[in-house]
Amino acid sequence: MRQMKIAVVEGDGIGKEVIPSALEVLDALTLDIEKVPVEIGYGKWKRTGRAMTEDDFDIFRSCDCILFGAITTPPDPEYRSVLVRIRKEFDLYANIRPIKGITNSRDIDFTIVRENTEGMYSGIEEVLPDAVHSTRVITRSGSERIAEYACSLATEKRLTIVHKANILKSCWLFREVCIDVADRHKVRWEEMLVDAAAHRLVLNPERFEVLVTTNLFGDILSDMSAALIGGLGVCASANIGADYALFEPVHGSAPDIAGRGLANPIAAILSLAMMLKWYGRIKESDAVTGAVSDVVSRGITTPDIGGRCSTTEVAGAISRAVGK
Ligand code: IPM
Ligand code: MG
Repeated sequence: MRQMKIAVVEGDGIGKEVIPSALEVLDALTLDIEKVPVEIGYGKWKRTGRAMTEDDFDIFRSCDCILFGAITTPPDPEYRSVLVRIRKEFDLYANIRPIKGITNSRDIDFTIVRENTEGMYSGIEEVLPDAVHSTRVITRSGSERIAEYACSLATEKRLTIVHKANILKSCWLFREVCIDVADRHKVRWEEMLVDAAAHRLVLNPERFEVLVTTNLFGDILSDMSAALIGGLGVCASANIGADYALFEPVHGSAPDIAGRGLANPIAAILSLAMMLKWYGRIKESDAVTGAVSDVVSRGITTPDIGGRCSTTEVAGAISRAVGK
């Protein structure tokens, strides 16, 4: 296998704590991986007026993928989300968010497959004096490829197609394409309106296996689902395209707790595990997820999931468990 080269973005806030934690775990695996640090984000924007430059993109292009912490997105109309730009630029159309219980005995284990490049994130917005029109774009090809991805995860499972087709014509297209693709692959499917899906996810999350949905619905449902399994501190994600990928914790930069050793490094460490799996390093990926479960079961956790340990203590314990 040729040497893997990853771009490493700590970003802002707790990104500067959880990414070094993930790298400590990666180092414990003693793999031959080149790591290229890239500074982008709000901090850089405040300092230089640019959150990300063309040179940064060139570095990303020279790497196999990106391990990404978190970036603060201020509610400033002049500021364009760096993350959304990267997703668009590399056409990372599938956002995969596994929701699996690690802190409690509930048997919650499902994956949200979120379309990641269109929908309400189309970027097509018209600002008028007294109204703003945000255009929701759903295409046949965009729906087709996310449905294909979801079906590839749902071969032995039930696929829940989440939409709002009773109201939105764009969702009607999404629904129709997903059903066609699922039928073609002989995947067992059901459909659910997004509001009903939110309700049932809270009431009975154990019944879900794989969900496929549009961009903003997936964004909202994934934060909500994180709350079912101990919060955002334990939820990892992969943004996947045809030949590139970005791996990041679902949480944001959490400026309120940044720099205090309170951040849970598990989401970033499980994102690293997703990266290793994507690259075909299955044994190492399993070693990382196994080490996380082991450390959590021994009660070595940060306060957000009931423990008393710091970010670095948890990361240290996980990297020692991986090294064994
Ligand atoms: C996420 C985040 C992003 C999104 C933001 C930071 C642009 O909330 O990854 O879920 O809305 O997709
Ligand atoms: Mg989100």
